[in-house]
Amino acid sequence: MRSLKNILVTGGAGFIGCNFMRVLLQKTPEFTGRIINLDHLTYAGNAASLADIEARFGAQGSGRYFFEKGDICDRVLAESIFKKYNIDTVVHFAAESHVDRSILGPEDFIKTNVFGTFTLLDIARNAWKSDDGIMRNDVLFHHISTDEVYGSLGNSGFFTEQTPYDPHSPYSASKAASDHVAMSYHYTYGIPVTLSNCSNNYGPYQFPEKLIPLMILNIIEGKPLPVYGDGKNIRDWLFVEDHNSAVWGILQKGRCGESYNIGGDNEWENIKLLHYLIKIVSAKTGLVQTKVEQTVKYVTDRPGHDKRYAIDCSKIKKEIGWNQQYTFESGLDKTVDWYLSNKEWTDKIKSGEYLKWIEKCYGTRN
Ligand code: NAD
Ligand code: DAU
Repeated sequence: MRSLKNILVTGGAGFIGCNFMRVLLQKTPEFTGRIINLDHLTYAGNAASLADIEARFGAQGSGRYFFEKGDICDRVLAESIFKKYNIDTVVHFAAESHVDRSILGPEDFIKTNVFGTFTLLDIARNAWKSDDGIMRNDVLFHHISTDEVYGSLGNSGFFTEQTPYDPHSPYSASKAASDHVAMSYHYTYGIPVTLSNCSNNYGPYQFPEKLIPLMILNIIEGKPLPVYGDGKNIRDWLFVEDHNSAVWGILQKGRCGESYNIGGDNEWENIKLLHYLIKIVSAKTGLVQTKVEQTVKYVTDRPGHDKRYAIDCSKIKKEIGWNQQYTFESGLDKTVDWYLSNKEWTDKIKSGEYLKWIEKCYGTRN
């Protein structure tokens, strides 16, 4: 039986991590344990995304939520967190996550995604050995990965868990490397490891450098809508809460040494998705759809731009009993409403003001 009492969530100040903690603390009554969030608060980590969690579940609330600011590459710090909170489960979201940034500057991706993942695994290897040298079997290291490790599809077919890895960007290469390190720790040292490879997420609290929030905000502000290349690249979109319910399912029932694909059965060409978004945002804001459409701007393509991603997620459906709860329509509706009613959050990001606030709260970041 897995313990799931003291869960270390890495990268909980980021998009998927903060939504994961919300799902667990607010919508999962069967989870009664504590969450310890280790996050370095890089440009993508936003303490403002945690304010409601802190208020309800932090020291002033139920005392089930703890925040530790720091780098997953910092072995001394991460080791002390394992001891201090008696960590029995790791859900490892922390990563450099944006493909375009990895093309401009790959170094941080190799450091955080590869070396950071290795550091956490290596700490778990020691922390989870009992006094007689036997690995505990009530613990779990769940590594969050991406469908991008599989490379690019042609017009047909799907990524399955058997598809060979073929990453094309420094980001996906760093995630592929971290997946291999995670599985090697399972085979070599017997650490209970599970892995998931998910398709494109969307939803509240996503940093507006990613396609959907970037486009929502640019539409509202009348800015150009940059479409890479011919706009015909295809992504498979999943609402973030559905990704996180899949992760919760794996924590409970996932088999060690196994990877699980997670996807939305929801393929869209970028340009078609953009026109759909324009329609939704225009209807909600009173903007004139045809005028907004004129702001679509084809720009230079991303180098090495993968053509198509599509996920076969029959394994997780069959083994874990997972299914998505949101349609694309209902998920996008929630997402657009969130961005429309959380202008303060997005304004702070755009002004960089949240970085000043973080420095005041947590000291200067290095
Ligand atoms: P994000 O960029 O929004 O958040 C990443 C978080 O990690 C931030 O809070 C950041 O401060 C933190 N972080 C970065 N470097 C760190 C370090 N060295 N030490 C501690 N914390 C650090 O990312 P996201 O979109 O929430 O993605 C989370 C995970 O899910 C990543 O592993 C990503 O590869 C994976 N994933 C993302 C998607 C997607 O569509 N966004 C899809 C599939 C998989
Ligand atoms: O597939 C899972 C991956 O999805 C995750 O592993 C990554 O962390 C996440 O960032 C995401 O990667 P993508 O590169 O697919 O997402 P992004 O939002 O950057 O781009 C989606 C598509 O839209 C892609 O084909 C590039 C295109 N695009 C993106 C931006 C930001 C544009 O055409 N214009 C843009 O301005």
